[in-house]
Amino acid sequence: MKLPQPSPDARSYSDVLTQRIVTEIATTGGWIGFDRFMELALYAPGMGYYSGGARKFGAAGDFVTAPEISSAFSQTIAVQAAQILALSAPHIIEVGAGSGRLAADLLLELERRDALPERYEILDLSGELRERQRDTIAARAPHLLARVGWLDRLPESFDGLVLANELLDAMPVHLVLWENGRDCPILERGVTWENEAFVWQDRPAGGRVLERAQALAADYPLEPGYLSEICLASADWTASWANIPGTGALLLIDYGFPRHEFYHPQRSSGTLMCHYRHHSHGEPFFLPGLQDITAHVDFTAIVEAGVEAGLDFLGYTTQATFLLNCGLTDILARTPAEDALRYLPQSQAAQKLISPAEMGDLFKVIALGKGIDETLIGFAQGDRSETL
Ligand SMILES: C[S@@+](CC[C@H](N)C(=O)[O-])C[C@H]1O[C@@H](n2cnc3c(N)ncnc32)[C@H](O)[C@@H]1O
Repeated sequence: MKLPQPSPDARSYSDVLTQRIVTEIATTGGWIGFDRFMELALYAPGMGYYSGGARKFGAAGDFVTAPEISSAFSQTIAVQAAQILALSAPHIIEVGAGSGRLAADLLLELERRDALPERYEILDLSGELRERQRDTIAARAPHLLARVGWLDRLPESFDGLVLANELLDAMPVHLVLWENGRDCPILERGVTWENEAFVWQDRPAGGRVLERAQALAADYPLEPGYLSEICLASADWTASWANIPGTGALLLIDYGFPRHEFYHPQRSSGTLMCHYRHHSHGEPFFLPGLQDITAHVDFTAIVEAGVEAGLDFLGYTTQATFLLNCGLTDILARTPAEDALRYLPQSQAAQKLISPAEMGDLFKVIALGKGIDETLIGFAQGDRSETL
């Protein structure tokens, strides 16, 4: 695929990060796991895709997420947020807040519903995004900015709602190759540096990656040569909330599948995907630091990790079902259809959020929590928990 060329500045920025990764490969015996490559490419301080200066979100960036497509997304999420806040405490932590658009629109809608949280805190690995988030909230909801704060780490205790859109897909994944050979049945695919280029190199898998890979091989008919991802980071992140005392819920929205679909025989080369200036491709070594690298989410792994750590499983369904349960159509109906200039773009954008051919089916919503006994509105009908 022919991808757009970066400016000379952007290229030299990417060269610095490349050198950083090459140095790490050299100092760790000539090989790093793909999870580490992805972590450095996205989050190396000051240089990674998220931690450096790349534009990332929106029309001028590399990809567009639901909060950027339509304010109706955040307004509808607010319905679910209000219920969770009423059942726990008036406090929201948003993790991986991107441009700050979800925060701003959600706060405005909660205000409209007389359900404003006392505090809205943002936790993002990328400190660079804070300024952008603050600017977005200052522009869209200036009177609410005083409620917003930024965290450097998970809190020690917490009551309220933890919200994240497209966070889990941005966490580093291990790449695993099920060779089924006699000597070395399961390999981990990592990265080395040869002839001035990153190249793949496979090594016998070990530790937790091997354990998970063996369990998957026992449950699914993975043909020789089957390549896929295992994301320990997203499972560990989910589990870490169970150790935090308090009442509340995690509401996570992302693209992915239940495990039996994730490791489907036809998905034999995994789900790794890169985004560069609205081109999607499968070449993670292309211009480190200038492109996003993601993998789909194995939602079964998220539930297992959370429940094993002590969280209650509260619901799982598609984005379309969740938004419709939360009253997306009522929110859209606030704009009169006669006001064609506003109504048409809004309904087209909403269509993107719920259409099965776009985000409606691929994106899922999952909730885990503690001390929440009511059925959550978003999962009241069409819950898909039994598919996990
Ligand atoms: C794909 S972006 C999504 C941004 C935004 N939620 C949206 O929907 O537009 C992923 C975000 O998650 C952040 N992130 C990734 N891992 C994280 C972690 N472990 N803790 C906090 N933020 C993280 C990244 O810095 C980035 O801002």
